[in-house]
Amino acid sequence: MNVTFFSSKPYDLTFFQQTNADFGFQLRFLKVPLDETTAELVTGSPVVCLFVNDQANAAVIRTLARQGVRLIVLRCAGFNNVDLDAARQAGIQVMRVPAYSPHSVAEHTLALILALNRKTHRAYNRVKEGNFALEGLMGFDLFGQTVGLLGLGKIGKVTARILGGFGCQLLAYDVVRDEEAEQLGIEYVSLPELLNRSDILTLHCPLTPETRHIINKDTLARMKKGVMLINTGRGALIDTQAVIESLKNGQVGYLGLDVYEEESHLFFEDLSNTIIQDDTFMRLLTFPNVLITGHQAFFTRNALQGIARTTCRNIQAFVEGKASGNEV
Ligand SMILES: NC(=O)c1ccc[n+]([C@@H]2O[C@H](COP(=O)([O-])OP(=O)(O)OC[C@H]3O[C@@H](n4cnc5c(N)ncnc54)[C@H](O)[C@@H]3O)[C@@H](O)[C@H]2O)c1
Repeated sequence: MNVTFFSSKPYDLTFFQQTNADFGFQLRFLKVPLDETTAELVTGSPVVCLFVNDQANAAVIRTLARQGVRLIVLRCAGFNNVDLDAARQAGIQVMRVPAYSPHSVAEHTLALILALNRKTHRAYNRVKEGNFALEGLMGFDLFGQTVGLLGLGKIGKVTARILGGFGCQLLAYDVVRDEEAEQLGIEYVSLPELLNRSDILTLHCPLTPETRHIINKDTLARMKKGVMLINTGRGALIDTQAVIESLKNGQVGYLGLDVYEEESHLFFEDLSNTIIQDDTFMRLLTFPNVLITGHQAFFTRNALQGIARTTCRNIQAFVEGKASGNEV
């Protein structure tokens, strides 16, 4: 079975080639992202493997179908970048990796919280320059802080468990109730209550039409003054212009992002020798209380091994005409 990868990076080759030794598919790695200009590059390959910023909109899906594609395997959990209706109409199956290592993203969420709070990124630079002054580095104890989890699925629950270890009080808002929440000491609240009571608010819901810009001018105004807002979910959960206004007036005291709504033009590439044209992103970088990473929360070797294995199993199920359980 021929499989064409889009947006492939050296680490994709490493992990997929290792895992594929047990499966024997023919893997073709393209560096370009999938969009309307690159979809025709798929030839003789019934399977395409996509990542978070590949764009499988209706027009792209139609081209893929014309090129003989029958299966899209996403090497990620989110599937907001695929037009599922168009795929169904074109007879293309879509599968994903619903769970690989929720620990990878949850632990990165903590890395952002801790770095923003204790300003380790700034301290690192100061100490390197022989500046041992502490002014501007003061943090707060996480113990006793109220943390709100917007979305209490796999990643939200692991994040909650870690934060429980710090002695945080945990609140969650989710459209579905999980019976494990009580054992984890998590109190379910409404969205307005979550916004109103959280000292730290962390986003772990998927990007859907309902959650797009769930953090906006109105919801930001309901938060505690000086709130710490963390997003390791999807960029478009936050209205970036609105959050910039809230940073300027102090409503948001700390912002930690691993995702950004216009990230597809920026992330995963070395742009250090270019002039970045995204003024909104560049404005975010000017705030001392904003910490951004380039969609790396998933990026642990454990997660990459898990992603490669589940993706190969998904393809194997398709080859055998069986359900993988990971269809979307
Ligand atoms: N930064 C990264 O590297 C990275 C990696 C993996 C996943 N993610 C993102 O994290 C998200 C969560 O992943 P997960 O594995 O925990 O998914 P999950 O499906 O296990 O959990 C998502 C939770 O969100 C809830 N939810 C859905 N709609 C909601 C709404 N309108 N309001 C509140 N809650 C809602 C669901 O009920 C579910 O409990 C993914 O959808 C993906 O976008 C990011």
